[in-house]
Amino acid sequence: MVLSGDVKDPQGRMLAPAGQEISPKLIRVFKIWGIGEVPVRADAEEEPGKAEERAIPIEIREKADEITRYRFQYNDLNDPFIYELFQASYLEKARKINKTPDAQDISLPEPDEADALQDGRRKKTRKIDAEQLIHKTIRLGTIPDVYYKTIAAINNPEASLDDIALIVSKDMTLSAKVLQLVNSSFYSLRQKVDTLTWALALIGTNQLMTIVSGVSAVSFFKKIPSRFINMVSFWEHSIACGTAARLLSSYFPERIEQERFFVAGLLHDIGRLIMVQNLSGEYYELLRDARSEEIFLFAAEAKRFGLDHSEIGAQLASLWNLPESLCQMIRCHHFPGHAGAFHENAVINLADIIVNALEIGNSGEFFVPVIEPGVTRELGLDRHMIVPVISEIDYQLADIFEIIYKTVE
Ligand SMILES: [Fe+2]
Ligand SMILES: [Fe+2]
Repeated sequence: MVLSGDVKDPQGRMLAPAGQEISPKLIRVFKIWGIGEVPVRADAEEEPGKAEERAIPIEIREKADEITRYRFQYNDLNDPFIYELFQASYLEKARKINKTPDAQDISLPEPDEADALQDGRRKKTRKIDAEQLIHKTIRLGTIPDVYYKTIAAINNPEASLDDIALIVSKDMTLSAKVLQLVNSSFYSLRQKVDTLTWALALIGTNQLMTIVSGVSAVSFFKKIPSRFINMVSFWEHSIACGTAARLLSSYFPERIEQERFFVAGLLHDIGRLIMVQNLSGEYYELLRDARSEEIFLFAAEAKRFGLDHSEIGAQLASLWNLPESLCQMIRCHHFPGHAGAFHENAVINLADIIVNALEIGNSGEFFVPVIEPGVTRELGLDRHMIVPVISEIDYQLADIFEIIYKTVE
């Protein structure tokens, strides 16, 4: 089937242009996203984005193709799903280079202070202790009390919505963010919500946990800057991954708790901040080695330190009393088949890959990770969902980034 007209979300934002191929499953997902009628015709095919692509100079397209192929080198481009993602990634790269020629520079940026690298020139392998690193980092800041109180109230079956609202209302930043998020593109509600009690009644306690965990984690780590990682870019990657995971979860046959996926996506690479924080110059050396040896950064971490950022992140999430299933999603985001629920882990795995492919922010990984066998089949995904999902990530990201990251003091 082919779209006979544009598909737009309730706010009028383009999700899929006329001429794009579409599947019955995608029509169902559009319905979940609040789109009533999807205009479809069953004949002529026209590939989306072709006219825009032709308008970009050939040498720029060739450069974008070369860089994208290099970044996708571990992926099988014969897989229709991967190929669609590759195409989207290549077109995005071509657009970026066309706008800013600097976008073709793929070299690793130098850290602010070169002398900070001297502690990086150490022996090539040494075991690190996740618990020790986590404790060293969390001693540097404090998680606000309201976080523990809210999570405890959410987990207490005796606590009412009013009890939870009372705890949240004592924190001005948190109350403001709850209202901002409820009124953002994240929920696309038709009416404006202006009281906390109404907001909580609408979004429920699980969604509240999203906001509380997100705001707390970001504000905690924002106070611990690093010279070796661009924090804005790191959180852009993380927030985009959470947004993508939440969107992908709507492809499940049954409606499930989407907010858990957002938090898992948001925190999936948090262990990397702990590694960078503690290993500084040594971690930069690792970034450099991974790039020159053309291997994944998570693989380089495991090779050098005996464990990678996903294990450290999962242990931190567990220390922060997040649910076990969420800790598993963080632990298994590169290898969804390793433990826990495959479907749930696979959503984070795929969200991370999409965000990496599109270069939305960056958490240090240069090569596009490989989708583990069975992920797209098990999730029942087809290639037609790539373009609308990317478009919706793009649309929601600006709002969510503003709420979660920008205004955190
Ligand atoms: Fe990761
Ligand atoms: Fe990631």
